[in-house]
Amino acid sequence: MVKIDQITLPDFPLLLAPMEDVSDPPFRAVCKDNGADLMYTEFISSEGLIRDAIKSRQKLDIFDYERPVGIQIFGGDEEALALSARIVEAVNPDLLDINFGCPVKKVAMKGAGAGVLKDVDLMVRLTAAVVKSTTLPVTVKTRLGWDDNSKNIEEVAERLQDCGIKALAIHGRTRAQMYKGEADWTLIAKVKNNPRIHIPVFGNGDIDSPQKAADYKNRYGVDGIMIGRAAIGYPWIFREIRHYLNTGELLAPPTLEERVEVARKHLRKSLEWKGPIAGINEMRRHYANYLKGLPNIKEYRNRLVTLKTMEEVEEVLDEVKEKYNGFVIERTAIELINYHEKCPV
Ligand SMILES: Cc1cc2nc3c(=O)[nH]c(=O)nc-3n(C[C@H](O)[C@H](O)[C@H](O)COP(=O)(O)O)c2cc1C
Repeated sequence: MVKIDQITLPDFPLLLAPMEDVSDPPFRAVCKDNGADLMYTEFISSEGLIRDAIKSRQKLDIFDYERPVGIQIFGGDEEALALSARIVEAVNPDLLDINFGCPVKKVAMKGAGAGVLKDVDLMVRLTAAVVKSTTLPVTVKTRLGWDDNSKNIEEVAERLQDCGIKALAIHGRTRAQMYKGEADWTLIAKVKNNPRIHIPVFGNGDIDSPQKAADYKNRYGVDGIMIGRAAIGYPWIFREIRHYLNTGELLAPPTLEERVEVARKHLRKSLEWKGPIAGINEMRRHYANYLKGLPNIKEYRNRLVTLKTMEEVEEVLDEVKEKYNGFVIERTAIELINYHEKCPV
């Protein structure tokens, strides 16, 4: 078992990565059903929270069935981060995570997200300000460093632990890399194997299959892994990894019925959370992923993305279920999109 302060997680927990515009409550609900052991909200601007920006406040929504769940914030100003930590505490998540990994210009160049990696003293001050202002366990998610010449994660890990953080998640890329190249887990392993480090260290970057998860577990010895892109449209990745770790065997891919039922649950949660109009609209980008691998599905997909009510969408989902009854969708490799500059974080 792995402990983040008072939070108990199973051995080698599988974490759902925070993802802007992706890891919202409806998506988290289906990941939780499929075995995500710890989940986070997408990153929330500390300045936005303080200004009470409606968009930022809505991102704070968490539900009891999701626990343990963390709220992630970002910012480059001590006072703003400390104040927003208090706002977060009022919502009562299980933990508060600080984002020091976001590479996009609008965040990193303002001295927040991965921008802070260039100034470890500032990073320490920001973290200390948050730790001091809340009773929640504080964790950090970051990258290896700013660029190839400044991979300072080993120093960062020690200093943040000394500040009182309770766990560290490391994406095995530098800020300069954005999403290019392969994530390098060797430095993550170095942090984990540093005898001074006693907090859990979670590895992140490029996990896209049960075999890779098991391989990286053995090779790098991290306390758990965080999965981002591979879960988008495929929340079953969590249960498949868990099954493989437990048995050494690959679980059969989800059946058509399961795919339809997960799409249905995602839809219902989306409407519950976002309301009938935004809920329907936001769900539209998910159908293609859930129904991937079905022959001639285009006609249904086109209908699904134009319908306006939940009842209509559910009818089409029923039709799909009936038409493809018994069809076995073959396992295909999960494709990790290389977000490069396009990626929000
Ligand atoms: C669409 C998208 C949005 C993201 N948003 C966030 C975010 O809000 N906070 C954060 O710490 N990382 C964010 N990330 C980075 C992921 O958490 C993760 O570190 C990265 O995708 C690498 O993991 P993966 O290879 O498993 O996807 C985002 C990534 C993607 C693809």
